[in-house]
Amino acid sequence: MHVLSCPHLPEAANTPLGSEVYRGLTAHPKTLSPWLFYDSQGSELFEQITELPEYYPTRTERSILSTHADQIVAAAAGCEQITMIELGAGTATKTGLLLKAAVRRQSEVTYHAIDVSGSALDEAKRRIEAELEGVAVVPRVGDYTDGLGQIDAGGQRRMVLYIGSSIGNFEPMDALQLLRDIRKELHRGEKLLLGVDMVKDPKILVNAYDDAAGVTAAFNKNVLVRINRELGANFKLDLFRHRARWNERCSRIEMHLESLIAQHVTIPVLELEVKLQRGETIHTENSYKFRDENVIQMLERADFHLSDHWTDEREWFGVYLATAS
Ligand code: AVJ
Repeated sequence: MHVLSCPHLPEAANTPLGSEVYRGLTAHPKTLSPWLFYDSQGSELFEQITELPEYYPTRTERSILSTHADQIVAAAAGCEQITMIELGAGTATKTGLLLKAAVRRQSEVTYHAIDVSGSALDEAKRRIEAELEGVAVVPRVGDYTDGLGQIDAGGQRRMVLYIGSSIGNFEPMDALQLLRDIRKELHRGEKLLLGVDMVKDPKILVNAYDDAAGVTAAFNKNVLVRINRELGANFKLDLFRHRARWNERCSRIEMHLESLIAQHVTIPVLELEVKLQRGETIHTENSYKFRDENVIQMLERADFHLSDHWTDEREWFGVYLATAS
């Protein structure tokens, strides 16, 4: 029998990290997916970003939720009791505002927190159950939508939370598909609360992703630190520059790592040598910004309809309550 020789990839290219780095750094143009940011250092840096003066999204969304929590929960519940399910719950710092409003209405509420990070969920459960009497936290480590339909709400109406503008990290078609996947798991009349960052003055957007203290630069470069540590690469951080730019045509902020010189980087466990030209970039993140009509259209295409909508005075951030049609 004739044995075909196949192009061999080293074992490390079969791990999620290895395969993403291999794919991204052999692609044209070079890219790395934003989920690579979130190792423990990256998650810590993101927490710091949320407190920067330039980074308005977290505090703006929190103020919207804080001002309108009772109204949001009332609109979602109607005359039923609700069970809350959060996708990408993380440490669930903003969710407490809604949970508090829910226990004011129905004295007991079950909160299913879904996230890829088990440690973040443990912290969320400990903190919320200590602070909020009447809330039962059910953590679930996993991917967004798988298992959403298996959550037993004991006959209560389910309210899915997808806040924090995380939907902005997806390409438009993938964002739509994600909403469709969520919709498929819901019964007609059940709810989705979606938080999105709105289009605004590009200067404000760029500053939010290129802060004076350099925290976002460190967050962006941390992906190289992680690849050095976990895949034995030799990226030199000083030879890269953090870039944030507004792409008007695509309505998104892009983050890149720009190579300051022509250089070679080796990634031993992937048996890969990466060549970068001077000025060439590795595109590490897209953060899409939305207009009201984009959000409504996307929801309708996913078989939801808009029930209610809240924003801040400057209309910088939007919180949308949608109902499964
Ligand atoms: C967590 C995706 C909402 O896009 O604003 C913050 C991530 N990147 N600063 C965002 C991020 C750089 C953040 N999301």
